[in-house]
Amino acid sequence: MAPVIRPRRLRTTPAMRRLVAETSLEPRHLVLPMFVADGIDAPVPISSMPGVVQHTMDSLRGAAAEAVAAGVGGLMLFGVPRAEDKDATGSGADAEDGILNRALRGLADDLGDATVLMADTCLDEFTDHGHCGVVDGRGRVDNDETLERYVSMSLAQARAGAHLLGPSGMMDGQVATIRAALDAEGFTDTGILAYAAKYASAFYGPFREAVGSSLQGDRRTYQQDAANRAEALREVRLDLEEGADIVMVKPAMSYLDIVRDVAEMSEVPVAAYQISGEYSMISAAAERGWIDRDAAILESLTSIRRAGASIVLTYWATEVAQRLS
Ligand code: PBG
Repeated sequence: MAPVIRPRRLRTTPAMRRLVAETSLEPRHLVLPMFVADGIDAPVPISSMPGVVQHTMDSLRGAAAEAVAAGVGGLMLFGVPRAEDKDATGSGADAEDGILNRALRGLADDLGDATVLMADTCLDEFTDHGHCGVVDGRGRVDNDETLERYVSMSLAQARAGAHLLGPSGMMDGQVATIRAALDAEGFTDTGILAYAAKYASAFYGPFREAVGSSLQGDRRTYQQDAANRAEALREVRLDLEEGADIVMVKPAMSYLDIVRDVAEMSEVPVAAYQISGEYSMISAAAERGWIDRDAAILESLTSIRRAGASIVLTYWATEVAQRLS
């Protein structure tokens, strides 16, 4: 009855398990998404994401410095304008003194090339209707009108000092259009981290609170249907052809099969975004004592790396980077 082959031998001690681990998680793999809000004079907690806040410009600079000191791979910035500054076309997005562009300039001043500074290139935080683009007379998000807004927003972010732009609106042709505009203005070194396969997901819920957005309707005419896999590969292939420097899958946890598929086909680095709802679920279960918080966080991030992501966006980036080093 005694088995000859015993896989358990390689699990006998922590040192043995460490020796044979196939996947690693290092601070440099982690990118911290951050929210900076206009018109507040103290950080505002996001109740559905315990531990995450809308930053003031000052607290943003402090938290960014802390993340960089912990060794994270980069920072991804989201701007939260004042409600009265939102409008139908998201003017705050490309305004030189818009909150996101001001914050980028501040962090670029503080940090220079010590980190990789990324910006969400999308209109939803800045529009009063909450859509990622310009809405036409029939209530549909107009793809090509929106591309014009993305061009203007991209140039503003490049001028403000972003190293990587993250177009997340899932408009057709967004990568090619932004690439051409950046090149025409001499920003040939500004890269594009394309949200290539982005699904319409219920797990974005807490993000709406994070950016103070009250979306009218849903994003199903531009974000992907959870039922589809081939469609994700097509979106990624197009973004690669259009010149994406990094491609991203989002959300992460319910889409690890897509992360694996994309890792197999992509010649550029693959990122995955552990989004707000993933953060909230683990936080809430841990708060109730139902799961071991620290272990669950590490396991979730390791599984995203194992699926094939070289870069993971997570709201736990600083904490985990500190824990790892
Ligand atoms: C769009 C954008 C969203 C997120 C990142 N960029 C919201 C959406 O597409 O609905 C979600 C991030 C998260 O949920 O953590 N600007």
